[in-house]
Amino acid sequence: MNPSSKTYDVGGVAMPRPFKLVRLGHLGLWDPAIARCQTNFIDLLGLRHTDNVRTPNGDVMGFFTTCNTDHHALIAMDPTDTDPVRKSYFDAGITLNQLSFQVNSLREINDAHSFFISKGVQISRIGRDLPGSNWAVYAFDPDGHRVELFYGMEQIGWSGVSKPEAMYHRLPQTEFQLPQRAEAEEVREAREQGIDLGSGFGSLSQLPYIYDVGGVLLQRPFKVSRVGPVRIFVADLDASEHFYTDIVGLEKTQEVMYQGHRCVYLRAGSEHHSVALIPLALRAQLEMSPKTTMMSLGLQVQTYAQLRAARAFLAANGLVEVPFPAELHPGVQYAAHFMLDDMHRIELYFDMDQIGWNGEVRPPAAPVPGNAWPETLPATAATFAGHIRQGPLG
Ligand SMILES: [Fe+2]
Repeated sequence: MNPSSKTYDVGGVAMPRPFKLVRLGHLGLWDPAIARCQTNFIDLLGLRHTDNVRTPNGDVMGFFTTCNTDHHALIAMDPTDTDPVRKSYFDAGITLNQLSFQVNSLREINDAHSFFISKGVQISRIGRDLPGSNWAVYAFDPDGHRVELFYGMEQIGWSGVSKPEAMYHRLPQTEFQLPQRAEAEEVREAREQGIDLGSGFGSLSQLPYIYDVGGVLLQRPFKVSRVGPVRIFVADLDASEHFYTDIVGLEKTQEVMYQGHRCVYLRAGSEHHSVALIPLALRAQLEMSPKTTMMSLGLQVQTYAQLRAARAFLAANGLVEVPFPAELHPGVQYAAHFMLDDMHRIELYFDMDQIGWNGEVRPPAAPVPGNAWPETLPATAATFAGHIRQGPLG
């Protein structure tokens, strides 16, 4: 049999690898400006602080935040105290600690682990993460960015409180026996043990609730509700494209030629792209920080009005808006870029093209000058579609 024609049963569907990435779920950054990063995430961007990241001896080395019901959507960690291997990656500019995609079953985690090993991919670890409760396998891409496949992210509900530390057990750091118990059984067991299920971590920004956002008073005039896309500089575009498509299974949406360089845009679901691979040679040409391979970190807000308000709010609160070539954010017409600190830049946007069954991409629109955004946009058939927030705004 031709090895390339081998198929695997994933939930009853024959697929070319034994797992299917269904969405970009969360991202982690190594960031030495951790205090500023925390203030910017929590106060300015309004991400909810759900837990702290601790070293093995219990010291706080970072923080988990979320913008939805996932336990974490964005993590930041101080690289100073990490292990020598990961510190060496950070020193080489790999500040993306994790690029994490959801799969739909626990079995796919184990199977992805075996698949990665069979393809010669370097594994970081496999097991279950707490805080967060998700089961995961982490592998390194050709540059040393860690790609995670996770299943079973802890969901944070109306009370805003994470799972209590007293429930931190069941932490296998190997391929796990299947099947595992359901989380509902873990919760029942915790109740029987007398664990206070409301005693977990949960912290909110102390800013006043003074901005009317769609009829609700919030602490800032917008609501971030999704992370991604992330664009990364890569040393060998062909090697990275092979890794992210043939091995990890992302779909290629589009290629863009920019100043003679090929750039590749990839998706996990119907979004135009959740990851873009940009040749490292462009980093200096674009005058971006030589300290990181993270080109941009996307944060989606819900409406165009919120995007305009966010742009003004962040500028008024000291974040520096920076230019970004429109050709390099295909699928997103209106975007505003800010420096989060002296390394990482964020991209705020409200709408991304969705890709249908035939994979067709919309022809590029004329770039919109950053200082010439209209007050209102014309409606399209896709306006506000596919970007639904289940719960209240805050
Ligand atoms: Fe993760």
